[in-house]
Amino acid sequence: TASGAGANSKKRYNSGGFVDEMRSVAMKLHTRDQAREGEKETQGKPWPKWEPTIDGYLKFLVDSKMVYDTIHTILHKADFPEYAEFRNTGLERAENLAKDLEWFKEQGHSIPEPSTPGINYSLYIEELSKEDPQSFICHFYNTYFAHTAGGRMIGKKVAAKILNNKELEFYKWDGDLSQLLQNVREKLNGVAENWTRDEKNHCLEETEKSFKFNGDILHLMLT
Ligand code: HEM
Repeated sequence: TASGAGANSKKRYNSGGFVDEMRSVAMKLHTRDQAREGEKETQGKPWPKWEPTIDGYLKFLVDSKMVYDTIHTILHKADFPEYAEFRNTGLERAENLAKDLEWFKEQGHSIPEPSTPGINYSLYIEELSKEDPQSFICHFYNTYFAHTAGGRMIGKKVAAKILNNKELEFYKWDGDLSQLLQNVREKLNGVAENWTRDEKNHCLEETEKSFKFNGDILHLMLT
């Protein structure tokens, strides 16, 4: 095939389909301190040295919930029929995040309103989803999978640093996470089978934007 991505990259997963290309592009956009396969230079503090605050982390959780709510609405509206495939995958996080925010409230913290990074990202994918399924699905993949990979590591580290190791619902899944991920990979591969090479490339090209928007939300925890 004409695929540039994936052919000889080191990867742990091999789904045998388009997801391998999506993953390969995503891994290269990590910095070297974030993931072994990362190719970007670290800017600012390497993430293991991040100093999150509770208020910042709450902003991150609120904005993450907003993005999950937005994706949920898009999948249920299904302007393109293939979106319906990605409902109820078990990777949804909005309900779990709602429980976590409730917990923080009980601890005496006030829950902030969504902030600019979450609002901007939500508006962006909402508009995109109406006319560009390949790009929307890129955001769906990167957002959903990022939170199960690096997101989980970050969650552990933050919990150890500022939450007395409290394990949030955000990082708990019903059932076997790797199986849930595998099911979604297969659906993504199935949907992408109907795409032309140009459409696939268009999807891959959107990865950088997903990193930018999700990175801005992630950085809220340092504010
Ligand atoms: C996978 C770390 C930010 C998207 C991973 C992996 C690590 C990691 C360690 C797993 C590599 C493996 O399979 O061995 C981090 C860290 C981040 C970060 C430390 C920030 C401090 C992001 C961002 C995005 C992203 C902003 C984009 C939204 C992904 C995707 C995967 C991944 C799509 C592949 C997951 C899979 O194959 O199941 N990341 N990451 N990551 N990350 Fe990140």
